[in-house]
Amino acid sequence: MTEAELYSEYKGVYVPKYHSPPESLQYMEGLAFRQDDIIIATYPRSGTTWMQEIVPLIISEGDMQPVLSIPNWDRLPWLEGQRAILLNLEQRPSPRYFATHLHYSMMPESFFKVKPKVIYVTRNPKDVFTSSYHYYGMASYLVNPGTKDEFLSKFLDGKVLFGSWFDHVKGWISAQDQDQTMYISYEEMILDLQKSVSKISSFLGKSLSQEVIGKIADHCRFQNMKQNSMSNYSMVPEEFMDQKKSEFLRKGISGDWRNFLTDAQAAHFDTVFKEKMGDVAFKFAWDD
Ligand code: A3P
Repeated sequence: MTEAELYSEYKGVYVPKYHSPPESLQYMEGLAFRQDDIIIATYPRSGTTWMQEIVPLIISEGDMQPVLSIPNWDRLPWLEGQRAILLNLEQRPSPRYFATHLHYSMMPESFFKVKPKVIYVTRNPKDVFTSSYHYYGMASYLVNPGTKDEFLSKFLDGKVLFGSWFDHVKGWISAQDQDQTMYISYEEMILDLQKSVSKISSFLGKSLSQEVIGKIADHCRFQNMKQNSMSNYSMVPEEFMDQKKSEFLRKGISGDWRNFLTDAQAAHFDTVFKEKMGDVAFKFAWDD
């Protein structure tokens, strides 16, 4: 199926019709934020699901019950998702936590007034591309990626889900409320998950013992988290996600682009990255 059939355009970017129908977008626009809300903002395939596991465990102080009994899409729901109305986000007790793939400039009015806490996760865009290629190939509500070259050109042009990676990242890293925003990268989480969990807990004002932090980090390691049926999308029918083609929790490593892109494709990617991000001072984790 084509972009016109599967996506609608919202504020200039593609959103999947299935995930974000117009009534859900309208509901999200009217949502009243609270100062103690926690928003996980990501470009798709940057570590959203990972954060949907980590943040509830920090808030529950290591109690596994929420992550072992509630599917991630209801546990830490998408602001723009079709389940938001059903879940009645307004009525959730504080602290509420939500995920979003929206660009900073697309956030609803109340967000800018109330200034809730934000955790923005970045990931090497070549790995985001690699992960996305597999995801687009297994999810029937997304346009088939075609060849790698075809998908690369769409990805670099922002003609994909939630638009351009470059615009998404540029918007969120220049967010005005920097003291309310924590930036963390997929790469640093891979490198030292325990330290990352500790950093996130401090940002959320939770002082947890090293034992609890260790327990959370251990549960959230790729091989362990992959076993959690509440988080690995195994409950989604095959007609929507065919995990025989590619698993949702696929490899869970950084640098997989090296196994996926040709030298020419990687060089082209780097050229476009320099063009679009040349003026950005932000230190990305994968620069090291
Ligand atoms: P890969 O396809 O590279 O494996 P999102 O949740 O934002 O859609 O991102 C999905 C990506 O995050 C997938 O990347 C997935 O495997 C990875 N991921 C999810 N949970 C993870 C974990 N516990 N550890 C490492 N990577 C994880």
